[in-house]
Amino acid sequence: MAKRIDVSGLSAYYGPFRAIEDISMTVEPRSVTAFIGPSGCGKSTFLRTLNRMHEVTPGGRVEGKVMLDAEDLYGTGVDPVTVRREVGMVFQRPNPFPTMSVYDNVAAGLRLNGSYKKSQLDDVVEKSLRGANLWNEVKDRLNKPGSGLSGGQQQRLCIARAIAVEPKVLLMDEPCSALDPISTLAIEDLIGELKQRFTIVIVTHNMQQAARVSDRTAFFNLAAVGQPGRLIEIDDTERIFSNPSVQATEDYISGRFG
Ligand SMILES: Nc1ncnc2c1ncn2[C@@H]1O[C@H](COP(=O)(O)OP(=O)(O)O)[C@@H](O)[C@H]1O
Ligand SMILES: [Mg+2]
Repeated sequence: MAKRIDVSGLSAYYGPFRAIEDISMTVEPRSVTAFIGPSGCGKSTFLRTLNRMHEVTPGGRVEGKVMLDAEDLYGTGVDPVTVRREVGMVFQRPNPFPTMSVYDNVAAGLRLNGSYKKSQLDDVVEKSLRGANLWNEVKDRLNKPGSGLSGGQQQRLCIARAIAVEPKVLLMDEPCSALDPISTLAIEDLIGELKQRFTIVIVTHNMQQAARVSDRTAFFNLAAVGQPGRLIEIDDTERIFSNPSVQATEDYISGRFG
């Protein structure tokens, strides 16, 4: 099958410090890939190289190649802003624009990228909120501030905002770690629905979550603090959690370290 993402020989630096080293992997369209591994092994850093967010950090630099379909994301002349529209991101802490209404939060990305008629915006906002399983809860308060929603609703609002611009890929960095168990389940259900339309990469510390939501799991590790993180193995999630190829993966998922 054609690959949606194809990473080869990727390293990322903060100034002189190499945070991740020589990562290669592929991701298929309409699948969920989970990134697991101990704190500091570079999961967030790697995720941010996939939409050119890493270079926003002062000293942030990338070596290697990331292909999104036929597009070389680090090729000459590629506009990082375009890349970030194609590869959306949802963060650990829900971060709706605090002064904006629910409606404007979802419409924000579209307004940045072009001019739309009110009726077109209305349609996209409704479709995106429905897509994020939030429409029924907010349809009567579209003009109220997004920051007035509960944490779980805010996170779904951020997902609605991300999908409104129809990205190819959705990156999620521990999207449930600030949420209660019910809100977490709502997001996990949503991920299962969103993968019909999007390619999803999710960082999680929760092994059950990785096992529940993902098709493929990538285990990252580092030899010691100060050493770069590496991809240890990537395989079908079922296999990673039943019979991984590498002892360190087994040790990590069974809670022996990390
Ligand atoms: N802004 C930054 N400046 C310098 N070093 C950083 C920065 N962000 C992360 N790092 C370092 O990069 C390494 C990987 O971090 P990170 O990607 O956050 O790991 P993870 O998400 O797996 O916990 C760590 O050693 C971390 O301290
Ligand atoms: Mg992280």
